[in-house]
Amino acid sequence: MAIHKAVIPAAGLGTRFLPATKSTPKEMLPVVDKPAIQYVVEEAVRAGLDDVLLITGRSKRTLADHFDAVPELEAALEAKGDTERLARVRESTELGHVHFVRQGQPRGLGHAVLQARHHVGDEPFAVLLGDDLIDERDELLSTMLELQSRVGGSVIALLEVPHEQISLYGCVEVEPLGDEPDQVQVTGLVEKPPVDEAPSDLAIIGRYVLHPAVFEVLERTEPGRGGEIQLTDALQTLAGMDPQDGGGVYGVVFRGRRYDTGDRLDYLKAVVRVASDRPDLGPDFRAWVREFAAGLDD
Ligand code: UTP
Repeated sequence: MAIHKAVIPAAGLGTRFLPATKSTPKEMLPVVDKPAIQYVVEEAVRAGLDDVLLITGRSKRTLADHFDAVPELEAALEAKGDTERLARVRESTELGHVHFVRQGQPRGLGHAVLQARHHVGDEPFAVLLGDDLIDERDELLSTMLELQSRVGGSVIALLEVPHEQISLYGCVEVEPLGDEPDQVQVTGLVEKPPVDEAPSDLAIIGRYVLHPAVFEVLERTEPGRGGEIQLTDALQTLAGMDPQDGGGVYGVVFRGRRYDTGDRLDYLKAVVRVASDRPDLGPDFRAWVREFAAGLDD
């Protein structure tokens, strides 16, 4: 059976982006004119995942409202004959089936994923972090879904990062898997290791295709780094389990463009990149960026 459920955790505190995230989830910060979360839901739907579950926390309302209709705004645009903006308002409502469940307390990414147990049931599912943007021109999720359907177990997305930055990420130890150089077997995982203890420069990024056995494992996973229930710790357990019981973790190394919009510098880069590439804004924006950059030399 093809995987068709996506879980998008968006209940973190977003402390790196305060005070903007005091009353707004970081996933609602706009990248040009669309909130980050909409790009992520669009990516899920493009990969054939038409059942989307958002894990929300405080300020759930703005997220829920964004995927709901706004009759008075739509009526006003309709009365003005502004069909272009009307279509843009409706885009997020027409994306598929978006559901919500609440994570009472932000006890970590693993705990957020556990809140999806009832909705997902006993089938493999995808997890997309709501503050992690993958450029839509670069393929990742469909390769991960295809690998999971071939080898079973769970599949995670990996990115090669500069050695000195590995301590900011979950990190993996890997072995080759078949002939495809960018597909690997994951033999060990560790969350944010000190640079000199990192087993590789491969960082875990925010896309996962998980076997439902992860729920049972998460139930038993004790709080780890930062006192949070870490998805990385649950994956470490899964990597050591028998494939017959849903064990086995595999990785797809991503070589494309990716932005962590929960990080201020990466967020700024995402806005500039997306704006530069937009057919409507790009030409004017690029001309301005060139002029601005030339002025920076002074
Ligand atoms: P982060 O570690 O980036 O989120 O989690 P954070 O804790 O909100 O960030 P900072 O460090 O304080 O700025 C990655 C993803 O997991 C979600 C976040 O919303 C984000 O999409 N998350 C994290 C939850 O849903 N619940 C949690 O308890 C923790």
